[in-house]
Amino acid sequence: MIKNDNSINEFLNQVNNKVRLSDFIGQFVDLTEKGNSFVGKCPFHNENTPSFNVSNDKSLFHCFGCKVGGNILNFISKYKNLQFKEAVRYISNYSGIPFIFDEKRIKTNAEEKLLFELLNHTNHFFNQQLKQNSFAYKYIKSRGVSDEAISTFEIGFSPDHNLLVNYLESKGFNLDHIKKTDLLIKNKQNDFFGRFSNRVTFPIYNFSNNIVGFGGRSIKNSKIKYINSQENIVFKKSQILYGLKQNLAHIREEKEVYLVEGYMDLIKLYCSDIKNVVSSLGTTLSEVQLQRMWNYSDIPYVCFDGDSAGINATKIISEKVLKFLVPGKSLKFIQIPDNNDPDSFIQENKKDDFLNLKITSKDLSTLVWDNIQDSIEINTPEFLAIIDEKINDMISKIKHPKVSKEYLRFLRSKKDNFIWEKNRIKTSKSNKTNVEVFIENINEKIFLLMIISEKDYVSEFQEEIFQVKLLDNTLEELKNKILKNLSDQQLIYSWSVNDFKDTNPKLFNEINELERVHIKGLKEGEKKLFFKQILNNLRLPFLVDERKIIQKEIIESSDNVISENLLKRYNKLSNEIKNIRNKDLE
Ligand code: GTP
Ligand code: MN
Repeated sequence: MIKNDNSINEFLNQVNNKVRLSDFIGQFVDLTEKGNSFVGKCPFHNENTPSFNVSNDKSLFHCFGCKVGGNILNFISKYKNLQFKEAVRYISNYSGIPFIFDEKRIKTNAEEKLLFELLNHTNHFFNQQLKQNSFAYKYIKSRGVSDEAISTFEIGFSPDHNLLVNYLESKGFNLDHIKKTDLLIKNKQNDFFGRFSNRVTFPIYNFSNNIVGFGGRSIKNSKIKYINSQENIVFKKSQILYGLKQNLAHIREEKEVYLVEGYMDLIKLYCSDIKNVVSSLGTTLSEVQLQRMWNYSDIPYVCFDGDSAGINATKIISEKVLKFLVPGKSLKFIQIPDNNDPDSFIQENKKDDFLNLKITSKDLSTLVWDNIQDSIEINTPEFLAIIDEKINDMISKIKHPKVSKEYLRFLRSKKDNFIWEKNRIKTSKSNKTNVEVFIENINEKIFLLMIISEKDYVSEFQEEIFQVKLLDNTLEELKNKILKNLSDQQLIYSWSVNDFKDTNPKLFNEINELERVHIKGLKEGEKKLFFKQILNNLRLPFLVDERKIIQKEIIESSDNVISENLLKRYNKLSNEIKNIRNKDLE
């Protein structure tokens, strides 16, 4: 009996949103990715060729050999030979999603079930009413919604509440029960009226395809444009994606998904044959919604309104999702031009124009950098330090170590580029580059260039140079080769910039360009100062890291003498860090 319980479905839903089935089963079975799913040798029968399949999209496994299949609970109860309750407990522990078997829960489920039925009847009633209310029907048609879309999205109309109550009573619901739902609102005079009365209605489905609530749009010029259902035992706004039920097949087919703000945005795109769309009904995005979209597409497109509210929301989301990033999953951001929303954009343009917006969409990482850059007041002398702080702030949000490392590398490289762009504008009046190429890791490349071409610097700054570790792997390897070569040959270089010409022509070109733009015109003294700045810039993160470690050691150390030595080293590092930060750029 518990097995058919709705709370189990809800639990499974939450688990499926959070846990990738291939990660879970991958603990027990060797799986390899193949197309849309993962395959391996079936743990439930003996086989030589893999016919065991795991689909993350569907959160199901299936063996084509022995025909065993099911969800995560079925897998673990079979694999570990667990009773149903034990399996639920196992998955609850694994996923961190609580599940309590108790009487109250069972009562809640009965309540949920009744509410689902009531909402279903209500939706049916609203649908009928749209046909009978020409004003509402004309309104929705005037918005450019096709009859097919009206029926697909079950758009309805809510008349006066008495009619709804009569209808529901005729279906066997009693008035007291109806009064308890949020279909009716009680005013100060204790009168009831309909929450959605005189509005066009949009039923909202949860991930188990039950109607959990409605959106109601004013068809006159009411101050309150939309009224949505209130949070209750079944309506949880952060756990639904409007339109997913209707658009799921298209989303699967396209393997791409757009996230928009509103009901009408989604429905109008649908009417223009763009059907791989969901809506979060507003500008927030929860973890559950994000994970659900990631089930269908590695990089969903966020496509909020082009007004300042939409742009601001985009920024907030870009920071919020960092926490959930894992390798291979991200977001892209489409900005709709001219203050339009998807609805008004598609009204004025064609399907292809909308699809073309993808070309200029921004990667999450670029958006994160742009947000950092936008928040900097370039004219303050501390801006370099501020950028570092902001970068660290963003990086600290990313939980996944590999992703966080890549973001660090990316943002630092953007920072270098940004600083040298600023410097170049200030210092090189005549040295204008004719090709505006974006060179990544500028600091690291200039550093390489200079340890090759200015061999004196290497002996002079040996200690500092050996502190540097380049974040770009290729460049780091090259650096090590060059330095090794240097110690082997006792300061006789066999390296020259020309050595890259064949092995790494791109690097060769970049290095030549950097030499032309940044170094060529410098006098000897300026050049050395320049090298020191670069060197310090590259050392800074390592000094900061070292200081952090020492700080920790100081706190943990109980021996006085060690503490004192550590303290000395700590102060020395602090001074150095402060000096580098303060005079780095001028
Ligand atoms: P149209 O004006 O009909 O085109 O609406 P839309 O689909 O463009 O929605 P919009 O972008 O204006 O709003 C996005 C979402 O925010 C809506 O789907 C609603 O869920 C919510 N929303 C908008 N206006 C209101 C409001 O006045 N009150 C509440 N509670 N929610 C609103
Ligand atoms: Mn709109």
